[in-house]
Amino acid sequence: MKKIKVGIAGLGRLGKVHANNIAYKIAGADLVAACSIVPAELEYAQKELGVHDVYADYNDMLANADIDAVVIVTTSSQHCWQIAAALDAGKHVFTDKPLGVTLEECRLAEDAVKRHPDKTFFLGFMRRFDPSYVYAMEKIRAGAIGKPYMVKATGIDPEALVQGAIKFAPTSGGIFIDMAIHDIDLMRWFLGDDPVEVYAMGSTFKHPEFKAAHDDETGVAMYKCANGAIGFVHVGRTAPYGYHVETEVIGTEGTLRISPVPAKNLCMIYDNNGVVQECVSGFPERFADAYRLEMENFIDCAAKGIQPEVNVYDGTKSTQIAFATTESYRQGHAVSINY
Ligand SMILES: NC(=O)c1ccc[n+]([C@@H]2O[C@H](COP(=O)([O-])OP(=O)(O)OC[C@H]3O[C@@H](n4cnc5c(N)ncnc54)[C@H](O)[C@@H]3O)[C@@H](O)[C@H]2O)c1
Repeated sequence: MKKIKVGIAGLGRLGKVHANNIAYKIAGADLVAACSIVPAELEYAQKELGVHDVYADYNDMLANADIDAVVIVTTSSQHCWQIAAALDAGKHVFTDKPLGVTLEECRLAEDAVKRHPDKTFFLGFMRRFDPSYVYAMEKIRAGAIGKPYMVKATGIDPEALVQGAIKFAPTSGGIFIDMAIHDIDLMRWFLGDDPVEVYAMGSTFKHPEFKAAHDDETGVAMYKCANGAIGFVHVGRTAPYGYHVETEVIGTEGTLRISPVPAKNLCMIYDNNGVVQECVSGFPERFADAYRLEMENFIDCAAKGIQPEVNVYDGTKSTQIAFATTESYRQGHAVSINY
């Protein structure tokens, strides 16, 4: 089959992960162009990825690069106009989460996807490709825990990265917009329903800088779905032991827990610290397989001209839920979620 020629936009923290996967690990794809507003990242593309067709301007890449598909890993506020421009230029599109940072932006992306049903549009909720989450979903679909009625999701970043989060806090949109979107997506996926009400709160005991930025270092939200199912999301930034991502799905006939110990691997160390299982260090390590598998799926969809399971409306809904959560957190009472 003909290879899909890809241009990537954004070569920051996550852009480099995607770019390396496309360049070296995905048989059906060729990384042929790159775009970034940071000159050092274009140099990285040339030296480390062997990509010589590089652009400082996104529209220049769309107009001049010989590409079938665009992978968008830019700053979140840039996603939606870049999605629309790429689809209008006749390209398949992968964008990382979130879809957009306002509802208006999300609607712009929805309209562009509607205009181009023949082009693949892929939204990167990579946890849906993580082998353990996929296995859990297969079990649920096979009836292993009966009807799922509650999801408890935990996502705590390592304390080792907290200074970055403090710096970003004034412009991050708050802990729920910044951190909870994957947990919100998993809750919708596992419960098979959308929340209609949320009550959220937060706390800070370690880094007062978060309070000064009108944010918190820990956030908790409870959701109620139209069918009565319940979601509980706990996000934070101060896990001293590493990166803690854990999800529990409770059903009428049993419970599934994905990563109840956020272990680095199966190795236990027996030494003068006791019996220790090390923790995974951060998202690039925990979800390395998931990032590769989601990109493989995007390339496969683009080659076949089909659409993936997650669509643009899932992106809008998760953004709306994150905004309603932030509103509840700021107002201090439960908020209805209207779609
Ligand atoms: N799926 C996940 O687990 C996950 C993890 C981290 C980040 N993300 C998402 O990935 C995106 C990037 O995050 P990051 O941490 O890599 O950010 P980053 O700040 O490290 O990188 C952002 C990149 O975007 C580029 N950029 C910004 N505006 C641009 C423009 N107009 N044209 C071209 N390039 C532009 C910058 O040059 C930089 O290369 C964000 O939307 C973030 O939410 C997702």
